[in-house]
Amino acid sequence: MMTANEIRESFKNFYRSKGHEIVPSAPMVIKDDPTLMFTNAGMNQWKDIILGNHPAKYKRVADSQKCLRVSGKHNDLEEVGHDTYHHTMFEMLGNWSFGDYFKEGAIDFAWEYLVDVLRLDPKDLYVTVFEGSPSEGISRDDEAAEYWAKHLPNDHIINGNKHDNFWEMGDTGPCGPCSEIHIDERTPEEKALIPGNKMVNKDNPQVIEIWNIVFMQFNRKADGSLEPLPMHVIDTGMGFERLVRMLQGKHSNYDTDIFQPLIQAIGELSELKYGVDEKVDVAMRVVADHIRTLAFSITDGQLPGNAKGGYVIRRILRRAIRYAYTFLNQKQAFLYKLIPTLIANMGEAYPELKAQEVLIEKVIKEEEEAFLRTLDTGIHLLEKTIDDTKANGKTEISGVDAFTLYDTFGFPLDLTELILRENGMTVNENEFNAEMEKQKQRARNAAAIETGDWVNIEDGQTEFIGYDNTECLTTILRYRQVTQKKQTLYQIVLKETPFYAEMGGQVGDTGVLKCGDEVIEVIDTKKENNLPIHITKKLPTHPEAKFIASVDKQKREACEANHSCTHLLDYALRQVLGNHVEQKGSLVSPDGLRFDFSHFQKVTDEQLRQIEHIANAMIRKNIPLNEYRNMPIEEAKKLGAIALFGEKYGDEVRVVKFGPSVEFCGGTHVSATGKIGMVRVISESSVAAGIRRIEAITGEKVEELMDNIQCTLTDLKELFNNAPDLIGTIKKYMDENSELKKEVETFIKEKVAQVKEKLISNAKDINGVKVISSVLPIPAASAKDIAFQLKGQIPSNLFVVIGSIENNRPMLTVMISDDLVKDGLNAGQIVREAAKLIQGGGGGQPHFATAGGKNVDGLSVAVDKVLELANLSIQ
Ligand code: SER
Repeated sequence: MMTANEIRESFKNFYRSKGHEIVPSAPMVIKDDPTLMFTNAGMNQWKDIILGNHPAKYKRVADSQKCLRVSGKHNDLEEVGHDTYHHTMFEMLGNWSFGDYFKEGAIDFAWEYLVDVLRLDPKDLYVTVFEGSPSEGISRDDEAAEYWAKHLPNDHIINGNKHDNFWEMGDTGPCGPCSEIHIDERTPEEKALIPGNKMVNKDNPQVIEIWNIVFMQFNRKADGSLEPLPMHVIDTGMGFERLVRMLQGKHSNYDTDIFQPLIQAIGELSELKYGVDEKVDVAMRVVADHIRTLAFSITDGQLPGNAKGGYVIRRILRRAIRYAYTFLNQKQAFLYKLIPTLIANMGEAYPELKAQEVLIEKVIKEEEEAFLRTLDTGIHLLEKTIDDTKANGKTEISGVDAFTLYDTFGFPLDLTELILRENGMTVNENEFNAEMEKQKQRARNAAAIETGDWVNIEDGQTEFIGYDNTECLTTILRYRQVTQKKQTLYQIVLKETPFYAEMGGQVGDTGVLKCGDEVIEVIDTKKENNLPIHITKKLPTHPEAKFIASVDKQKREACEANHSCTHLLDYALRQVLGNHVEQKGSLVSPDGLRFDFSHFQKVTDEQLRQIEHIANAMIRKNIPLNEYRNMPIEEAKKLGAIALFGEKYGDEVRVVKFGPSVEFCGGTHVSATGKIGMVRVISESSVAAGIRRIEAITGEKVEELMDNIQCTLTDLKELFNNAPDLIGTIKKYMDENSELKKEVETFIKEKVAQVKEKLISNAKDINGVKVISSVLPIPAASAKDIAFQLKGQIPSNLFVVIGSIENNRPMLTVMISDDLVKDGLNAGQIVREAAKLIQGGGGGQPHFATAGGKNVDGLSVAVDKVLELANLSIQ
C-alpha cells in the first residue's frame, strides 16, 4: 500500500514526465491580495497569469497546494467533522496549462494517471460534463464528453448542472465548464442494487468527487455576461486526502495515515476511543482537522485575532475547543498538546512547522485558555437565564438570549441546546435564526462592493519603475469603477508606474497624475493579483492621453527611511535577543514603523537601548544600500538573506543589503543608512502569545520628540528654580509632601477625638435618649468618622445629628443606635425630609444616613428639623 507521501510524489513524477514544471506550494495565507485571505484552490497562485497581468514563465505546471476553505465563496467549515471527507485545510494536487494543451490533453493525462499509474478500476469511475445553460447561450460541453468517451462507456458520463459543473473563481473573472471525476467505493452488493451513475453528487460518503478539471474559456463580466478568454487555461484540482483514502482502501479520510496518528493522540489524551460513539467521533475529527489548519496558518504568519483572517482562524480554533470541551471532556487547554504528533507526521514535508513549534504551541495554548474562561462566563450567564426562565414558569429561553451567548461568548446554538436539554429546556430557534439573519445582513451591507468592468484603453503590461524614479511619462492601460459604502473610487492601471503598491508592510505611494492643467490625485496604490492599482476619486477627462505620474516624494522618502530602519532593527533584535527572532508583521508608513516578532518575554528597557544603539551605530556609519534585483534564490540564501515564513518567493528574488543586514525584500529603501538620521523605539508591547511589538520613529520625528522632551525638562527645571540636582530636588519635595500628609492625618485624628469628647460632654438627655447635635466646620468624612466612633462608645439610646460644612457645601449626618431603630426611628427617612432645607438630597440605612445640599444657611434649621422629626427637639 502506498503511503500518503509516496502518493504525493507519484503525482508530481507523473506530471513531470509530461513536461510540467513542478513548483512548491504557495503559502496558505495570502498577504497581498485584497480579494482573498487564504489560498482556497491551487489556481490562486496563477491568478495573475490567468487574468493576463503577467506572462506565464512555464506553460505547464503542477504542484501540491495547501488550501483552506473556510471563508468566502468556497466554505466547508460546518460540514467538517460531521462527514468523513470535508476538511478546512487540505492539499490539492493540480496541473495547469496556460495556453498549451486544453480539454483533450487534460482528460487524457488525468485518465492515464488514475488508471494506468494508480491502477484505479475504470468501472468505479464516473465523470460529469456541463449540461449547458440556454439562458447564458452556452451549449452542453460535447467536446469534453467526446474526449471522455475515448476512455469510458456513455453511462459513466453524466450531465451536471451549473452549480457542480461550471467553475468560477469569484463573482467576476475567468471561469468555464468543468468535468468532475467521481469514484464509487460502495460494496458490490450496493453497486448491484443502484448503479453508480445514480449516486453521483448525492452526498453518499462512498461515492465522491476526487478531481475537478476546469476548462477556463470565459471571462465573467460585472453585468453577469460572458466573453471568451484570449488564452485557454486548464486548471485542475484533486483532493489529496480523498485520493489517499481510495488508494489505501479506507472508508474515511480520517482512517488514512494522514489523520490516524492525530486521532490516536486525541484518543490517548482524552481517554476515549474512536469508533464507539458518533458524537465523540465527530469531535475527534473536528479536532484532528482543525489542528492542522491552526498550525499551518500560524506558521504562515496568520495568528488568531479579532479581524479578517485572524478572526477566521480564531473561529476555527474555538470550534475545535468547544467540540473538545463538550464531547471529549476537555475543560483545560488541550489542543496544543497535539502539535508534537502533527509535526512528527508532517514535519518532514513541511519543515516550517518544526522551525516554529514553540510559537505554534504557545499561541494555541494561550488562545485556548482565554476562550475557556469566556466559556465559563457564558455558562454562568446561561445558568442564570435558565433559573430566571424557570422562575417564570417557562421551559423555553428566548432566541435573543441564545444569540447573545453565540455572539459575545462564542456559544454555538448546539452547545446552548445541549446545556438546556440537561435542564429539560429548549430554545426559541426561530428567534435565534432571525437574529442571525439580521447580523448577516448587517455584515453584507458593510461589505458590499460593486466593481465595474475594466475599460481597456491600451493592451500591455505594467512596468514598475519606482526603484529608480519617482516620476515618469506614461499612459493608462485600463481603469474601472468601484463603489463601497456609497463612495465611488476609480482604479487605474498604468503602463509604467513609479508608484509603489502597498506590500510587505510598506504603505502604498500617494501622488498625482498630471495631464496639461488637469491634476488627478492618487490617494493610494494597492496590489491586486500582482497588479499595481492606483486609486483616485476622479477619472481624467481624457483617459487616453499621456500623463506625468508623480509620487509624493517627501512621503516616499520618509517611508524609505522607516523601511530601511526596520531592517536595521530586525538585525539588532537578533543580535540582542537571539536568532529565534522572526518577523511576524510589519507596518512601514511615513510617520513611523511597527515591527512584530516572535520572542517569549518582554524586551527590557536595557535591551531596547542596546537595540537602538546597534541600529543608530549602523545609521552613523552611513552604510550604502546594496540591492540585487534578480538574484537566484539559492544564491540569496547563500548570502544569508533572511526570508519570511509564509511568503511566496519566485526562482529569482530581490535582496536588500545594508552591511550585515541582508533580507529578501521588495520595498523601497534609502541609498545609504545615514539618511535615516536616527531611530528611537517609542513602545514595546505584546500582541499575542509569543509575539512582541515595537514601534519606532526616525529622523525628523525623533527630532520632534527630543524637542518636546527638552521643553518639558526646561519647564520642570524652571519650576524648581533651576536646581542643579533636579531629580534629587523633586524627590525631596515628594518626601516632604508625604511627611506633611502624615502629619495632617494625625492632626485631624486628634482634632476629631477632641471634637467627639466635646460633643459627648454637651449631649442632652431627652426622654432617656442621649441626643448629640451640632453644626461643625469639618469635612464630611470626619463627621462620618465621629458618628461611628460615638456609636461604638454609646451603643444604646443614642441619637446623633451633625451638620458639617466642607468647601461651602452643607452636609447632614445622622446616626441612630440599633435599639432606637427597632423602636421605629429611621435615619434614611429623616435625612431625606430634612435635606430639603439645605436644598439637597440623600439617604441611607435606618441607622445611618447622610445628605448633601447647596444651602449652607439652612444647615442649622435642618439639624433642628432632624431632631423634630425624631421627636427629640431640644427645648
Ligand atoms: N479551481 C478548481 C477547484 O478549485 C480546480 O482546481 O476545484
